[in-house]
Parts: sequence; C-alpha cells; structure tokens
Amino acid sequence: MRRGGDVVRFVTNNEHKYKEASDILGAYNIKLEWVPLPVDEIQSEYLEDIVVSKVVSAIEVVDPPFIVEDTGLFIHALNGFPGVYASYVYKKLGLPSILKLLEKTRNRKACFIAVGALVIDSHIFKIFRGEVYGEIAREMRGSQGFGYDPIFIPEGYDKTMAEMDREEKNRVSHRGRLFTQIGEYLAGKNIV
Ligand code: IMP
Repeated sequence: MRRGGDVVRFVTNNEHKYKEASDILGAYNIKLEWVPLPVDEIQSEYLEDIVVSKVVSAIEVVDPPFIVEDTGLFIHALNGFPGVYASYVYKKLGLPSILKLLEKTRNRKACFIAVGALVIDSHIFKIFRGEVYGEIAREMRGSQGFGYDPIFIPEGYDKTMAEMDREEKNRVSHRGRLFTQIGEYLAGKNIV
C-alpha cells in the first residue's frame, strides 16, 4: 500500500534524525511525517550515490514529497575514515575504539557531512548538503544526541554535540544546516 497525504515525509530508521529534522522544518510551518522504513542503499564512497540509491528504493513505496538522508564522519588524520562507513564502524568498533585509534594523534580535525534528497514528485528530486567542521574529543562527553555526538566538538565550541540539547545541536550541526536549506527551499517554492 502506498502512503499519501499533504505533508513532507522523512524516510529514516533513526528517530533522533527525525526529531532534529522535524524541529527545523517545524520552524517553517512544515509538518514532517516519520516513515521508519528500512531503505536499500548501495555501497559507494560518495554520499550522493548512496542517497540517490535510497531515492530509487523509497520511491517504490512512499509518495512524494519525501526526504532521504545519509551522513558520513570524515576524520582528517585517518584519511577520511570512517567516512561513508560511519554506521558500520560505529556498530562494529564503537566510539572507544575510534578514540583509541586517535590516542597519539594531535590532529583531531573532522567533519560531518549530511546529504539529503528532497523528492518532489516521481520525476524530480533535489540534492542538499550540510557540513560541520570540528574536532574529535579526547574522551566521550555528554548523554544527549546519538551516534558520534559524544566525541564530536564543533568548531568554536568547547563541548561535544552530546552536551548540547537538540536546539543547540541543530544550530551548528550538519543536519541542522541540511534541513535549514530544505526548509528555505520548500518555503520559497510553496511546495507544501
Ligand atoms: P547514517 O546516515 O544513518 O548511515 O549514519 C552514519 C553513522 O553516523 C551512524 O552511526 C550514525 O549514528 C552516525 N550519525 C549520523 N548522524 C549523526 C549525528 O548527527 N551525530 C552523531 N552521529 C551521527
């Protein structure tokens, strides 16, 4: 059965991502519906390729307008690792192992990149990208957020994203920037 209606949908298994995105689009009076469907994704070193594969998979079962998103964490001293494999590495190694890998490393620079596709109808979609630069902390700090938040300190801050509430994280994060662009776009085009 296809899903329909006049809201924008966010196809993601991750409730944290949904809540962050929902707060941002809410500020544009856009109602975001959570569609917690698993969508197939290809293996690629480019977030854009992964996102397009999610569009192809989701379009079969979800009515537009909808959004799919994928995030990578790129650590400079590790040549961009874990990058697009961030999810796999998080599950298999976890944060303590990442910290261990960087134990003797002074260059802590890293960035989160989120790429999202807004599927407007069955023929048109638009890609957006949000980035945040920062550093990998020396230890895990904070209990809010999810994933790599306890070890990521955004540039200009001395706390991790897990030490921020959702509103503060949204002001600085890759996803905050991504969904702000989507909100601006949707509001400007009167799509919903
Ligand atoms: P994916 O986009 O769900 O594939 O996310 C890749 C990995 O990065 C997963 O382990 C997520 O938990 C993690 N991740 C995605 N977004 C964030 C974020 O905003 N903060 C911290 N970790 C994140």
